[in-house]
Amino acid sequence: FQVYQTMQNPDPDRLPVLYEEWEKKARDVLEDGPYYYVAGGAGGGKTMEANLSAFDQWSIVPRMLRNVEDRDLTVDMFGQTYHYPILHAPIGVQSIIHEEGDLGSARACAEMGIPFTASSASTVPMEKIAEVMGDASRWFQLYWSKDPDVTASFLQRAENSGYSAIVVTLDTPMLAWREYDLKNVYLPFLLGEGVGNYLTDPAFRSKLDKPPEEDPTSAIMHWTQVFGNPGLTWEDIGFLRKHTTLPILLKGVLHPDDAKLAMDHGVDGIIVSNHGGRQVDGSISALEALPQITKTVQGKMPVLMDSGIRRGSDVLKAMALGATAVLVGRPCMYGLAVAGGKGVQEVLKNIIADMDLTMGLAGQKSMAELDRKILNKTT
Ligand code: FNR
Repeated sequence: FQVYQTMQNPDPDRLPVLYEEWEKKARDVLEDGPYYYVAGGAGGGKTMEANLSAFDQWSIVPRMLRNVEDRDLTVDMFGQTYHYPILHAPIGVQSIIHEEGDLGSARACAEMGIPFTASSASTVPMEKIAEVMGDASRWFQLYWSKDPDVTASFLQRAENSGYSAIVVTLDTPMLAWREYDLKNVYLPFLLGEGVGNYLTDPAFRSKLDKPPEEDPTSAIMHWTQVFGNPGLTWEDIGFLRKHTTLPILLKGVLHPDDAKLAMDHGVDGIIVSNHGGRQVDGSISALEALPQITKTVQGKMPVLMDSGIRRGSDVLKAMALGATAVLVGRPCMYGLAVAGGKGVQEVLKNIIADMDLTMGLAGQKSMAELDRKILNKTT
């Protein structure tokens, strides 16, 4: 009711409500290059489509008369209680979307008590993001560099600047075939965007002939050499453990056998994700992969999920299929494009309000206790 009351005198500049409206407005304010960098996927976009349609294969079966006056949205992970089962997904190069960039998003999350996952490819170094977030909860996403000194240094810096978990993205040892970006000849990194963590890193800088301030082109060329590491295998996980005491989550797990390997190699959690359909075209959707993986993991470690979360009911379905929490990617970026950090907050607030209402109306009181019994498989 509060939401409707505050809307009684409509302001013509009022922020959008519908996800589709946010996306459309973002399209209006962004140039082709940045817009398609965000909205596009790998190849012909089949995985992106599948990420959304997978949610239609499950329907919620509401229960009645179950006293849903007090509802609990909290979830526990790694010894901490989080207000909501939602995190801001790691997203690089946010400066191409809005001048507030990563700092706007990070501040927005800090004010709401939503963990912000800072990307290795953030515009500004992780220390700056940490600074604007104060004591608020933040995770760091690692792109595992070919240069082990850079990887070790990133882990150390994240620990020193108050990040409380490390998300290791496994699905991007190379950037995928992204047709729109190729068509638009648009790769933000080559314009010097998203390399802030690298250019300020002592290990990275020590390998350059001249400091990036003197020779930015060579520094970026060096970045293209060390960014990803297609040679990694499961045996390398031990390297991460050696260099951080923080919980380690592997992002990009889609096969139950990889979930098992993750447990065998002693990581602390996984994120079921196909990078929002940006890496393998024609891949299994994240939601479709989730049930087999939660069955394999048997609650022994947190299993988070992203790729396709747009509305409250999506969160409910992922949680009912065993997710511990979900991450939200593009919706936050459309919010950022339209209204900076304020837009990110509005998008997240809408998803939370929708999720809370949908949970209550489905006769459920607790996010953490949702289970498969509230779902029906429609196909
Ligand atoms: C991403 N994603 C991503 N993931 C990651 O681990 N590190 C990164 O730097 C980025 N960068 C990035 C940029 C942009 C523009 C997008 C859209 C996505 C993937 C992201 O964390 C997440 O997995 C997906 O965005 C989730 O899917 P949805 O919510 O966008 O459907």
